[in-house]
Amino acid sequence: MKTGGGSDAAKRRAGERAAEEVEDGMVVGLGTGSTTAYAIEAVGRAVDDGLAVRGVPTSFSARRLAIERSIPLVGLDEVERVDLAIDGADQVADDGALVKGGGAAHAREKLVAAAADRFVVVADPSKRVDRLERSVPLEVLPDALPVVTRAVRARSGEPTLREAVHKDGPVVTDNGNLVLDCAFGTIDDPEALATALATIPGVVEHGLFVDMADTVYVGTDEGLEVLEW
Ligand code: A5P
Repeated sequence: MKTGGGSDAAKRRAGERAAEEVEDGMVVGLGTGSTTAYAIEAVGRAVDDGLAVRGVPTSFSARRLAIERSIPLVGLDEVERVDLAIDGADQVADDGALVKGGGAAHAREKLVAAAADRFVVVADPSKRVDRLERSVPLEVLPDALPVVTRAVRARSGEPTLREAVHKDGPVVTDNGNLVLDCAFGTIDDPEALATALATIPGVVEHGLFVDMADTVYVGTDEGLEVLEW
């Protein structure tokens, strides 16, 4: 459930601006997606120039890109804290609430963001909305699929199992789970929905990130917009 929309130039501006926040000695959360990839590439160039950082990847793809760029990696369970987490988003509301999980990586992304002193989001203008309205991805234990499907419908959501594109059958996450994309229409109260989804047994994590982002860098074709809360 990825969206296109933003230009490469806009994504690059956002990603490279976020990478400027990385300082010597930091533990940095490395997010997932095409916008964060520009940040990871910029951090990789800084490492080539002598910056000492350790990256905590949020997905298999972030890990692979970081290895390609020679960024030293460390497990989240090996560090006491993450200084800065950089990640993308699928939708960014005016109040800073996010929908994430278009790349099915939101469980680990949320964990790394929550562990970070500072969480910086990189986006392009196609992600900006007044209020969230995108389907909310749920990472679901495979056995729990029917139970969670019923629970989402009972909460007025319409769940769709995310199908793989180049494989028969569903998307399987890095953690071996399934993804249900759940449409709720316009989300007037993201916090209440986040709480409701978090209480469904079998849901490993949902893609609503409420009150987590400190700053969002929105790259545009002409420049950069900075949103802060
Ligand atoms: C991954 O699961 C998502 O949360 C990503 O952060 C999101 O899909 C952003 O990707 P793009 O930068 O490619 O839009």
